[in-house]
Amino acid sequence: MLQPMSIVAPAPAAPAPPASNFPYLATLNPAQAAAVQTLDGPLLVLAGAGTGKTRVLTTRLAHLIHTRRAWPSQILAVTFTNKAAREMRERVGALVGPMAQDLWIGTFHALAARILRRHAELAGLKPNFTILDTDDQLRLLKQLMQADGIDDKRWPARVLLGVIERWKDRGLTPDKVSTDEADELAGGRALALYRAYQERLRTVNACDFGDLMLHNVNLFTAHAEILESYQKRFHYLLVDE
Ligand SMILES: Nc1ncnc2c1ncn2[C@@H]1O[C@H](COP(=O)(O)OP(=O)(O)OP(=O)(O)O)[C@@H](O)[C@H]1O
Ligand SMILES: [Mg+2]
Repeated sequence: MLQPMSIVAPAPAAPAPPASNFPYLATLNPAQAAAVQTLDGPLLVLAGAGTGKTRVLTTRLAHLIHTRRAWPSQILAVTFTNKAAREMRERVGALVGPMAQDLWIGTFHALAARILRRHAELAGLKPNFTILDTDDQLRLLKQLMQADGIDDKRWPARVLLGVIERWKDRGLTPDKVSTDEADELAGGRALALYRAYQERLRTVNACDFGDLMLHNVNLFTAHAEILESYQKRFHYLLVDE
């Protein structure tokens, strides 16, 4: 049994066209259909696990295109999984054909990588940068720790990597980390290590997952005209979280 959804949204600007024009609406329960047809202003769909949220998002995306509210290239959709992204693209593909390729759909990290590749030079990278996995990150960090004489019995690389990742998650580049906070770690060498780690990543034209976010935040903060170009481009933003 599907749970009812609570929908927080402004009233639609115009009455919805008759449902018969949109056969896919009949596959939804009334709350889902209302969410799909609410296309003006911000909309939040709040519902429990497995109640049909992704289905709402996918159908809403198709509905936006079907009603000509937006071209696929004007929609950005963030999904939790690659599977959901694929489903959305297929669904839209069935409606509009190859134009579905113009949709920007993916996980936060996939979309961040896509944006970063277009502006890589501004982050000190080349567009073909590689993305490190955890093993690569640890290998790199261990090399730097060894060079700096940091005892990895006392300060395991995994722990220090966790510290660096948390800094990144808070949007802190090395110049923004407070020295008070850093001084307590790795005998006062943690910040120098973070700086060296970032420098090495640039040298080898690579980023880690945290950088994908961090470089984007810095890109949009430092370059208002780039931020504006994306704000103009995307008329609809859908997030499945
Ligand atoms: N109105 C509906 N009628 C029939 N089946 C539905 C309906 N809405 C959703 N479903 C089915 O229910 C299942 C769960 O839907 P969906 O994945 O959209 O839920 P969800 O809220 O996104 O789940 P999760 O919390 O796991 O992300 C899917 O198999 C979907 O096809
Ligand atoms: Mg879902």
